[in-house]
Amino acid sequence: MSEKKTYYISTPIYYPSAKLHIGHAYCTVAADAEARFRRLDGYDVMFLTGTDEHGQKIERTAIAAGKTPKEYVDVIVEGIHELWAQLNISHDRFIRTTDDYHKKSIQVIFKQLYDRGDIYKENYEGWYCTPCESFWTDHQLVDGNCPDCGRPVELTKEESYFFRLSKYQKRLEEHYEKHPTFISPPSRLNEMLNNFIRPGLEDLCVSRTSFKWGIPVPFDEKHVVYVWVDALSNYITALGYGSDDDSDFKKYWPVQVHLVGKEIVRFHTIIWPAILMALDLPLPEMVFGHGWLLLEGGKMSKSKGNVVDPALLAERYGTDAFRYFLLREVAFGSDGIFSNEALISRINADLANDLGNLVSRTLTMGENYFGGNIGRVPISDDFGRQLKEAAEAAQTGYRPAMEKLQFQDALAGVFKLVSRANKYIDETMPWKLAKSKDEADRTRLQEILYNLCEAIRIAGILLQPAIPEAAAKMLSFLGLPDEDRAWESAFTFGETKGFATRKGEILFPRIDLEKELVELEAFKAKREAAEKGPQETGVVTLPEITIEDFAKIQLRVAKVVNCSAVEKSDKLLRLELDLDGESRTIATSVREWYKPEDLIDRNIILVSNLKKATFRGVESHGMLLACENGKNDVKIIFADDCRPGAPVN
Ligand code: MSP
Repeated sequence: MSEKKTYYISTPIYYPSAKLHIGHAYCTVAADAEARFRRLDGYDVMFLTGTDEHGQKIERTAIAAGKTPKEYVDVIVEGIHELWAQLNISHDRFIRTTDDYHKKSIQVIFKQLYDRGDIYKENYEGWYCTPCESFWTDHQLVDGNCPDCGRPVELTKEESYFFRLSKYQKRLEEHYEKHPTFISPPSRLNEMLNNFIRPGLEDLCVSRTSFKWGIPVPFDEKHVVYVWVDALSNYITALGYGSDDDSDFKKYWPVQVHLVGKEIVRFHTIIWPAILMALDLPLPEMVFGHGWLLLEGGKMSKSKGNVVDPALLAERYGTDAFRYFLLREVAFGSDGIFSNEALISRINADLANDLGNLVSRTLTMGENYFGGNIGRVPISDDFGRQLKEAAEAAQTGYRPAMEKLQFQDALAGVFKLVSRANKYIDETMPWKLAKSKDEADRTRLQEILYNLCEAIRIAGILLQPAIPEAAAKMLSFLGLPDEDRAWESAFTFGETKGFATRKGEILFPRIDLEKELVELEAFKAKREAAEKGPQETGVVTLPEITIEDFAKIQLRVAKVVNCSAVEKSDKLLRLELDLDGESRTIATSVREWYKPEDLIDRNIILVSNLKKATFRGVESHGMLLACENGKNDVKIIFADDCRPGAPVN
């Protein structure tokens, strides 16, 4: 018996330094879909993910949190495990760079590189960006800051070990030329050549002495191994390279694809292959640099206005719906804009409407007209033939798209089939035939339902990598024996003997977009307030007062009849108020958050018996009530439904 072909796929190993957002989930879900596809396609798959736990950044964050680095990462890594379980990630191995076996293998690798003369010791003076854990030379800095993230860099003077990266420049260029898909998609190749390779590679500093949180250099323990050498090597240490049992390494290496975000392509296509060359090991077949999910205003980490917590989104809409969005919305390789609205709209349009309707209409008709028993009837008309063609197009387009990691194309093909099947229902109008007792009409009705079940069956099989739970439900609603659920059977329309359908639950409930956006907004405000904590919002607990004390304060509704900016002040607005015939003027410092036109014609709540005071030449009589939502976020309390002048108690 011939051995199964192996397929090794990896995600980056994640820094356990901050809460993972959907940008992190993006790559892992993509890798998972690919791994599931390959398993179904008969490969022996090794899907690796993990966490990158060493380095100065983590050491500093842990200290700031009053913990040891290990205590700090342990908690976060636990959360990452939970998140991957929630997102149904089917990784075969999870590596932590703090695992003992990894640390030992890194020491073996470092020593091998040293013994081969590819690592040497020298004094180093240069710039280090701690958040990026990257070294930069003078001429690489942009306005004196890190060229990647724009943050300040620190001057580092240390005795360090260096890796002879410059020695591999030519071999790297040759490798790129001979293996045009090594750096994928192709646009990333030019970026690497123009920005890094052609300006000339310099040797790389691969050890640090200024902090402790890393793997000690085995022959010089005051040094720790540079985090990127530690991290990149995970792809082989996870397979046992440098240990007593390297059978997995022999079996799975070289990797078929490292999936990475675009900003770390350079580490994976320059430093990593050079290390592998130095170790005399084969290079990865492909490094695929996917794009970023961005928010309207910029980066995911500044998530103003949108909820980007993958655990929360998966909990609210379901794991499969969330996975589907990540795979379908943006071409893998390009950047894409994320918004909660886009997520909900996509779920509603494709899953709740198109797929959900097809499945529920078909199963309801199957049960009502045939008690769920639908036998095979050959196709007799053009509508049926077109449906079959749509199924074949989805099948034949699927594999090449998945092989190129173009998930959105593979899924778009399946959803074309789903739309075609919905159209088929409208064209053939089975509910009309159902009224007839005529034998020929019954047969025709059965033919229609059989074809619809075939369409659902094939869509269900092809959707397994992307939405595994929903796909399994679709297949089970059809009552199929195992052989008709098998991957290969997705390539045969019309050969299933028959179906024993049952009406299942709704696969993807429709989400009320407007209502949901409001709820998310409220949720986000609440979470942010909780995260900021009481000290930051400046809340101090005042001594108790009596009801009599409170009764001294008179609150009344006031209508803003006019509003303008106060001259020579960038904080104050002047408000002309009406309290049911009585006029007032107040000056209030909300200009940072409100424009005059936001306030005119709105009702506010006024502390109306406050003594007069003059601000920047405006005599102010009273004070409006506003809420300090968070640091630098103020919201006026409006009372638009209330009568101007009315007392507030
Ligand atoms: N620890 C390194 C990787 C070492 S691999 C040997 C690292 N970790 S990370 O946690 O900062 O990022 C992990 C991955 O998440 C990167 O591939 C990065 O591109 C990806 N993403 C982080 N934010 C992202 C988006 N907003 N959108 C898509 N992916 C993004 O880098």
